[in-house]
Amino acid sequence: MAVRHFLRLLDLEPAELEALVARAIELKRLQREGAEHRPLAGRVLAMLFEKSSTRTRVSFEAGMAQLGGHAIFLSPRDTQLGRGEPVADTARVLGRMADAIMARTYAHATLETLAAHAGVPVINGLSDRFHPCQLLADVQTYVEHRGSIAGRRVAWIGDGNNMCNSYIEAARQFGFELRIACPEGYEPERALLEENADRVRLLRDPREAAEGADLVVTDVWASMGQEEEQAQRRRDFAAYQVTPEIMARARPDALFMHCLPAHRGEEVAAEVIDGPQSVVWDEAENRLHAQKALLERLMAG
Ligand code: CP
Ligand code: NVA
Repeated sequence: MAVRHFLRLLDLEPAELEALVARAIELKRLQREGAEHRPLAGRVLAMLFEKSSTRTRVSFEAGMAQLGGHAIFLSPRDTQLGRGEPVADTARVLGRMADAIMARTYAHATLETLAAHAGVPVINGLSDRFHPCQLLADVQTYVEHRGSIAGRRVAWIGDGNNMCNSYIEAARQFGFELRIACPEGYEPERALLEENADRVRLLRDPREAAEGADLVVTDVWASMGQEEEQAQRRRDFAAYQVTPEIMARARPDALFMHCLPAHRGEEVAAEVIDGPQSVVWDEAENRLHAQKALLERLMAG
């Protein structure tokens, strides 16, 4: 059977994604009950991080341990990758020793090279284009709080970044309506917008995007690698903070999500992220359960 990768949400069929979310909810319950579930005993996940991480690293590492396997943290600083060994060669070697690879890269193309040469499943732990694992956790969180996300209206407010691109793919795979509000020059990938024009709308006014939304989502204004643009971005995004006024446009039972780390007073007001509509801590926790479901699917059996 061909090796399955998870570099973007389109790599799994909608029914497979739905099954993953359901399984994540079940694994969470099993863990709460203290049940032992070790389908990955003896299996190894190699984790390659070109950028910082708290949630992604800890959730994959804890997840592998809970499933009976082991995870190895690797950074370019202390591998031969940092001294110029080609990505393809690294992939071949890791694939001979590990049962799967999780990588957080600057260029999405690096993940594709890993996937082309590893011979084992490769999982995207965030690239410049996508952050699919975060979307598994976000959808799980929505489902736990409000039921199916299909047919719901989601507002993305802020940068058209890797998270936004993944929200577009999620709108397609999970069947929700997505309204994106971003300043000019900060749009998500044009091809993604065009291919999903039936369920994704690009707007400029964050209030209009939030109107009647069931879920309001944002992310940092400057992603990792864009630190030098921070001051310019703070000016360009000034009107895009998710404030209580923006939340008031959404449905009264709307949820607020943010993949974290967050900057209170920039992309989100403290009253919102620390308020009653925010589910960001459940969202963060669900990285663990959603990725355990993913690891089980890609690595077990
Ligand atoms: N949301 C997320 O991916 O967080 P980390 O950067 O801490 O992994
Ligand atoms: N868009 C952010 C997400 C961090 C989890 C970044 O790429 O830095």
